[in-house]
Amino acid sequence: MSNEAYKPGLDGVVAGECAIARAQEGQLLYRGYEIEDLAAHASFEEVAYLLLYGELPNRVQLETLESELFIVRPLAPELVQTLRLIPKEVPAMDVLRSMVSMAGHFDPVTGSDSEALQRRSLWLLAQVAGIIAARNRLLQGQEPLAPKPGLSHAAQILYQSHGVEPDPEAAKLLDLTLILYAEHEFNASTFTARVICSTKSDMVSSVVGAIGALKGPLHGGANENVTRMLTRFSTAAEALEWIQGAVARKENVAGFGHRVYKNGDHRAPILERKARPLAAAKGADELMAIYDVIRDVMGNEKKLYPNLDYPSGLTYYLLGIPIDLYTPIFAAARVSGWCAHFIEQQANNRLYRPLSLYTGPEQRTLTPLGGRSD
Ligand SMILES: CC(C)(COP(=O)(O)OP(=O)(O)OC[C@H]1O[C@@H](n2cnc3c(N)ncnc32)[C@H](O)[C@@H]1OP(=O)(O)O)[C@@H](O)C(=O)NCCC(=O)NCCS
Repeated sequence: MSNEAYKPGLDGVVAGECAIARAQEGQLLYRGYEIEDLAAHASFEEVAYLLLYGELPNRVQLETLESELFIVRPLAPELVQTLRLIPKEVPAMDVLRSMVSMAGHFDPVTGSDSEALQRRSLWLLAQVAGIIAARNRLLQGQEPLAPKPGLSHAAQILYQSHGVEPDPEAAKLLDLTLILYAEHEFNASTFTARVICSTKSDMVSSVVGAIGALKGPLHGGANENVTRMLTRFSTAAEALEWIQGAVARKENVAGFGHRVYKNGDHRAPILERKARPLAAAKGADELMAIYDVIRDVMGNEKKLYPNLDYPSGLTYYLLGIPIDLYTPIFAAARVSGWCAHFIEQQANNRLYRPLSLYTGPEQRTLTPLGGRSD
């Protein structure tokens, strides 16, 4: 293989065809719809339908999806039993990875044609949310809650996690983050899901692998690190001093930069616009000033701009969500995209099997063990 064909990290390489999303500088489309329009006019459930079925639902189709989701929300008792056995120190993403794998043993859907895969996707969507919430309840020493009819997916996550029906504004904001997180073309976790699918493996294995990829701090794990960073400072002046040093030391700063968007991730301002009034309402003006100063220094000095994880770390913090749940909630949204990609990959499959550029020793002669010096 020639050196020219080699792109570390597959940077700039087209690795497959995709009709689900288009991410390019200045634009993100889900099945042809601008993310700004979906954020303004659709719910997460409508977006999940769009990703999985290819079109936005009409009212009847949406109601059908909502009732199907509700039916498959309860976790198998064996899952709840297993959740009780996992040590409380285990990070929520590790718990989610194991529990989705276990949920696969109780998959209520049979078959693997596209209709079965769509139903399995809804089941996974419901189960991921249920696992996250049940784990949170058990960590608080409380019993997992049954889902409540009539709540949106976002409200259900908040209700089942905290035991009280959420404030509608909080549920709406969480819903917006789910829409923004739902899909992003060939990102690392989705690519992982597609590679697993390409071996003709199953959808649950694909989602389990994707969760493992999402966990990393260069991918979904960044939103948790954003909050750890923002909450380290008491004042914007402290944050300014730190970020100037971090830039000088060439430190990696969570929530900035993107492989595809070099002039900024336009999902970030959509969420930032909504997070700002929430910060004001919560009296978190200094936190917002810390957020702004880090963003401004990164933009001015490094020409690096916030990705979605920067405002989502802030938003989840303001919503009072435990930090360990940020990346799992990202997964609760992205599972819709992963499943849509699985369905697309299966329908037009070719095994992913790239080449490597060999950097090991030249061919050499083997000396049997007895002839090797100690
Ligand atoms: C997302 C990310 C992995 C993309 O990486 P990438 O495509 O390999 O980055 P680039 O090649 O464009 O980086 C260009 C330069 O900016 C630097 N850079 C990129 N992101 C940076 C960040 N968040 N903090 C500091 N420097 C960063 C790189 O080190 C590189 O510097 P160099 O030219 O001196 O070597 C990277 O931006 C990053 O680590 N971000 C922080 C983690 C994060 O927020 N992840 C969520 C992504 S949605």
